[in-house]
This record gives sequence, C-alpha cells and structure tokens, in this order.
Amino acid sequence: MCGIVGYIGPREAYPILIKGLYRLEYRGYDSAGVALIDGGLNLYKTRGKVSDLGRLAESKDTSGNTGIAHTRWATHGEPNDVNAHPHFSPSEKLAIIHNGIIENYSTLKAELCNRGYVFRSETDTEVLIHLIEDIQVNEQVKLEEAVRIALNQVVGAYAIVVASKENPDQLIVAKKGSPLVIGIGDNEYFIASDASPIVEYTRDVVYLEDEEMAIVPRNGNLRVKTIKNKDKTPYVSHLEMQLSSIEKGGFPHFMLKEIYEQPRSIKDSMRGRLNAEKGLISLGGIIDYEQKLINCQRIIIVACGTSWHAGLVGEYLFEDLARIPVEVEYASEFRYRNPVITEDDVVIAISQSGETADTLAAVELAKSKGATIIGICNVVGSSIARQTHAGSYTHAGPEIGVASTKAFTAQVTLLTLMALLIANKRGSIPKSRYFQLISELDAIPAKVEKALQVNNLIHDISEIFQNARNFLYLGRGYNFPVALEGALKLKEISYIHAEGYPAAEMKHGPIALIDKEMPVVVIATKRGNYDKVISNIQEVKARKGIIIAIVTEGDTSVRAMADYVIEVPETDEALVPLLATIPLQLLSYHIAVMRGCNVDQPRNLAKSVTVE
Ligand code: AGP
Repeated sequence: MCGIVGYIGPREAYPILIKGLYRLEYRGYDSAGVALIDGGLNLYKTRGKVSDLGRLAESKDTSGNTGIAHTRWATHGEPNDVNAHPHFSPSEKLAIIHNGIIENYSTLKAELCNRGYVFRSETDTEVLIHLIEDIQVNEQVKLEEAVRIALNQVVGAYAIVVASKENPDQLIVAKKGSPLVIGIGDNEYFIASDASPIVEYTRDVVYLEDEEMAIVPRNGNLRVKTIKNKDKTPYVSHLEMQLSSIEKGGFPHFMLKEIYEQPRSIKDSMRGRLNAEKGLISLGGIIDYEQKLINCQRIIIVACGTSWHAGLVGEYLFEDLARIPVEVEYASEFRYRNPVITEDDVVIAISQSGETADTLAAVELAKSKGATIIGICNVVGSSIARQTHAGSYTHAGPEIGVASTKAFTAQVTLLTLMALLIANKRGSIPKSRYFQLISELDAIPAKVEKALQVNNLIHDISEIFQNARNFLYLGRGYNFPVALEGALKLKEISYIHAEGYPAAEMKHGPIALIDKEMPVVVIATKRGNYDKVISNIQEVKARKGIIIAIVTEGDTSVRAMADYVIEVPETDEALVPLLATIPLQLLSYHIAVMRGCNVDQPRNLAKSVTVE
C-alpha cells in the first residue's frame, strides 16, 4: 500500500518527512518522493527505497517547513521515477500525493487530454492533480474548492495531500476508502497514512471519515468538511498504542493483519471489474486476449506453493464453468519435464511476488513455444508480470507476512472473475447461474467479514491441538485445494507436519494413520459431495479419529458427529474456497503463535523464492 506523509509548522519539514517514510516502509513500496515549499515547490522522487530518495536529496535544496512525501505501491503504471509520487500539476504550482485507486481515471484523463493537457506519467494520481488545477483555473475558485469539486467527479479510493507553491501556509487533505490521519502538534500539523510517523510528535489525532476533507493551516485551527461542502467538527482522539504495534495496524503480526484485511483486499481485487447490478465483468488487462481464452483448447496454470493451490481452484472453476480443459502444473516440474506446449495453449501464471524463479522460468519456456501468457500477480511491474502478454493485478496490497493469505483469496477472486467472464462469453453456463454467481461473488467480502468472527473459537481449538505432531486436512471438489492450502499454512508457520488430501483418497492409504493423536480437519460445507464427506467423517470417527469440521452455518448433521465445528457463511459451491480458507488461516496462525514460532518470518522461508 502507498504511504503518505505531510508536515506544516515551524520546523524544517524534510527530516520529519523522510523519517515518516521510514516509519511507513512496512507497508511495502517500490518508489519514494518528496515535495517541499520554500518560495518554490521543489520535488524529488525516485524508484527504489527511501534511502535512495535520501541519497538523491543530499545534493538538493531540501529547505522549507511545508512538505509532502510518499512511498508508492504501484497500481497504475510501472514502478519508475516518472510514476513515483508526488506529481506536479501542469503549471507545477501544485503537487499531490495519493494512496488509493481512481477507477474512472481513464475517462477523466481522456477529457483532460481533449482539453490539451499532456501527462508525464501513467498514473491515476497525475490525472487528479491535473483535474484540480483545471477546475481552479477555469472556475476561478480557491484550491480547497477546486479539490472538493474534483473529488466529486472521482470514482474510487483516495487519501490525498495537495500542496500549493502559491499558498505555502496550508495543505489540503481528503480521504475515501484509504486511511489518513492528522496529528495535532503545538502550532504544527502532521499528516500520514497511519499514526506511526506521527506518534513520536503528538498523540492527539483526527481520523478523517470517508468523503471528508480538511484544510490544514500553518497557524490556527483545522477545518474539516465533507466533499458535499458540509462543515464538520473535527473529533480529536488520543493515541494509546505503542509505535511498534501501530505499524501492524494494532495487530500483533502482519499475518493476522493481512488475514483481517481480506474483506477489503477481495473487494479491491474486484474494484472496477465487477458490476453486480448490471451483471458485468470487465478485466481490462486481458481484454485483448479474451477471444484467445474463449477459443483456446487448453489452459495451463503454472505456479508454486499457495499460488499453485489457487491455480487448482482455477482448474475447478474453468472446467466447471467455462468447460475449458485445464492442467495445473508446479512450475518447478513444468520447466524441466519437456512439456508439450503449442501456440493454441493459454498459460496462466500466478504469483504474488511476481519474482518466483521457477514460475518465471516456466513462463519463459511457454512463451518461447508460442503459448499466450496471462499473469495474475500482486506486484505491479514484477518480472513475471513484465513477461506476460496480458494479465490482471490482484490489488491485494503488499503482503508482508511470509505465509500467503490475502494474496491467495485475491488470486482465487481473479480466477473466479476470469472463469465467469469466459463462461458467459462461451455460453457454457445458463444466464441464471452466471447472474447468481455474480451476485454471490459481490457478497463475498461481507461474508469473509462474518467468517472472521470465529476467531475466538479457533483460538480455543488451537490451544487443544497446539502440540499435535501431525494433522490431516480433507476436502472434496472445490474444497480439495483448500485442504491443501490449509495444510501448507499450518506446516510452514507452526512446523507441525500436515497433509492435505482429497477426502475420498483417505481410504487409499492415509486412513492407516488415523488415531486419536492426529486431528483431522475436514472441510464439510454444504453442496458438492456433502453426503460423501459425511461418510468420510464417519470412517475417521470409526477409527477413533478426532474431527475438526469446517461447516456451512446452521449445519446440524456434521455437528452431530464432529468433535469441533467451525461455521462459515453459506455461499455457492464454486465460491466456498474464499470462505473455507479463512478459518484454516486462523487455525494455523494461532497454533503457530502458541508454539512460539516466528509467524511473520518462519524459519527457512523467504517471502519470494527468487532462486531455484
Ligand atoms: C505460501 O504461504 C508461501 N509463502 C509460498 O508457498 C508461496 O506461495 C510460493 O513461494 C509462491 O510465491 P509467489 O506467489 O510469490 O510466486
């Protein structure tokens, strides 16, 4: 996620801004920049780290006691110097920093281009500052009014700070869907994405609500109003949290924070792509290759680890809904087994980091054989993303915890959108089922929110099983990949051996392992082969096995036979992976914490395996 920092007051702004950016590094970023007002408006920015920005600024004029600074997590446009924030307005009298996604930026940009404006970058942010200045000049209004009018034309999420060379005694801030907090000091103000850059200076803060803006003065009181021009009295709260916890948003670990971010990250992965009211799916990143997907005879999915599990869900989705044959390949095997690849194949490469060496190599092999490569990555401009012919970014925001959680559900969401889009175009599912799935998918973020409410129950269950030496995870159909993912989550952060299996496969070997020492996690949600999963549960119980069951809320049949039951909201069978995964993420998290494991940086693991 991008990080924003602003300062206005009697002190030199630059040291405060740079230190603030360092405090926001945990949010993940690919470039950094700063703009300072001291007579002029001096702006310095670079791809890379905050330290790179520091080195760049060493030879520059960094004076001024009004300034803004930014760390960019790319959403529109490659990570490079030009796309880094802050962005100038056309006259270079204004500068803006932004965290969020402006969904209608291309429409706004086209209108501004028609009016003769020229853009330096590929970003949605630069469009906004052009729009603001266009309004300020053409409607002859004050900057705060120009910002307000512009934001009423914006669709999407934003946390912005606008600085003006001609009015160095104020900063204009606004927020919708992205976080922004204002620190109130002694005759000075601090602005940031969260409290971590602020708390060392002041604990008195104002959190703006969505569609609120503030005029932050050098001297005097903060003025807050809505973008509909309704004055608001700022509510000042007092920070209690310690700095270290603030960086994790109040969570003890990044992994737990990212588990709880999933309602938002799934929503963000659908933002601007799913219009449930109209029953429309639009994936701009693959639009030129839609026909290729519609007509292809085979899809090959290449990935590693959790991304491979997402790919397995993708196989069920594309075959079940779009009726296209799919092969899911471990990239590390695919790249070396001399696979048959033709120009008729579409290869979907799934990677959170976009840097996994085996997946990159598999992509390069398939590309060399003439296949069409579509990417599903989370890091914009990553190596794998750059190798693909087309793709869709998951927009899950940076995933700091090594164990992948929100990236997995975002990947599955993207695969669901792709499969539904192609199924509808191929006419391979009835319109009624298409609209039903669209409506259900739109409701998923709220259902994930509900699924997270079993956290305390899962904590209690984790206490019982924290010392188990083995776990077995069972699932059928769409839930088979979820069983694999649940097992991986547990073993990679708690170091307990765990295996995922198709539930029916148990009697072909693993049933020999069943005893009262080995918890068996069974995903037994309604629909699918529910009755057969119940038989599998009975087979385990008959051998004194212990059952932890993930069930659809309200289930009574499984509840009557399982030892522990965790409910998830009901949804369509094809969407269950997005919900059934949540309790398994929490189970692995709590067990790992109870075992004293380093949850965010498990032993021997890296967040991105960039070597073979
Ligand atoms: C999952 O929790 C692991 N961190 C790991 O399996 C990961 O999914 C795998 O290394 C692939 O990474 P990628 O998605 O960045 O390519």
